[in-house]
Amino acid sequence: NGIRMIGVPVDLGQEQRGVDLGPGALRYAGLSARLSELGYIVEDIGNLPVPVRDVLGAERELRYLPSIRQVCDTVYQAGRSAVTQGVMPIFMGGDHSMAIGSIGGVTDEEPSAVIWVDAHGDYNTPESTLTGNIHGMALAALLGEGFPELVNVGRVGAKLHASDIILIGLRELDPQEKLRLRGSGIKAYTMRDIDERGMAAIAHEALGRLAHRTRLHVSLDLDGLDPLEVPGVGTTAPGGITYREAQLLMEIIADSGLLRSMDIVEINPILDHSNRTAKIAVELAASAFGASIL
Ligand code: ARG
Ligand code: MN
Ligand code: MN
Ligand code: MN
Repeated sequence: NGIRMIGVPVDLGQEQRGVDLGPGALRYAGLSARLSELGYIVEDIGNLPVPVRDVLGAERELRYLPSIRQVCDTVYQAGRSAVTQGVMPIFMGGDHSMAIGSIGGVTDEEPSAVIWVDAHGDYNTPESTLTGNIHGMALAALLGEGFPELVNVGRVGAKLHASDIILIGLRELDPQEKLRLRGSGIKAYTMRDIDERGMAAIAHEALGRLAHRTRLHVSLDLDGLDPLEVPGVGTTAPGGITYREAQLLMEIIADSGLLRSMDIVEINPILDHSNRTAKIAVELAASAFGASIL
């Protein structure tokens, strides 16, 4: 029973400084020890090479697309290696752009599903984006839309079908992104759905929809949680998932027995209070990998 921690200190998919420090924050919050306690053999392979934005001056107007492509290729290969070696990768971001590589890498063979926890859809294309930030295009790229450099990371073409993905925690979409998502066939649970129906009902329904898959990847963008509870994120949106709701979601995911890999992204320690966001992320990862209260 092996878990492999893979650091991806990429901050090129967005503009705030600090999200590249996420892997360190998760290590200092004790991710490795917490998972070892659960009985896993945990291996931390350190950080993958990521260019530092301060020395990429000329790429700025390209929104760092060449470097993000390169990083995602490396992440993809790390994901493939983990899967073929039979260990479960946890990708420690970094911003959400790295999920193009991580999810691509873990979805090669078996029928796979993704639960994407986020305030945002990350479903922009170069045409629909208002910011130009590539972290807001990650899900679209995985579905085969947008920059070919991103769509073709690792292997050519789309890595997921719309029916493979469930979004949970949505509350902030750009106007064109909203229209695109409506027409996409992706199942999305918004904050309204969570408020009306409760997280338990949503988590069980989501897993029911994905039941015919053999692998589940959880892509946890910490900005899906409420910024009052996790202040250390760059793209905050008020009114998010509570810590308790997120815990319950992770516990129900653990019960499914499907979880094989995870991203923990968008932690920005510079904006945080005493590493609280990474500590909460560690507790959520522990629950997803089977920790129980009693
Ligand atoms: N929709 C906005 C954009 O395209 C925000 C994206 C936020 N994404 C994230 N991974 N935090 O820039
Ligand atoms: Mn995101
Ligand atoms: Mn987000
Ligand atoms: Mn603050």
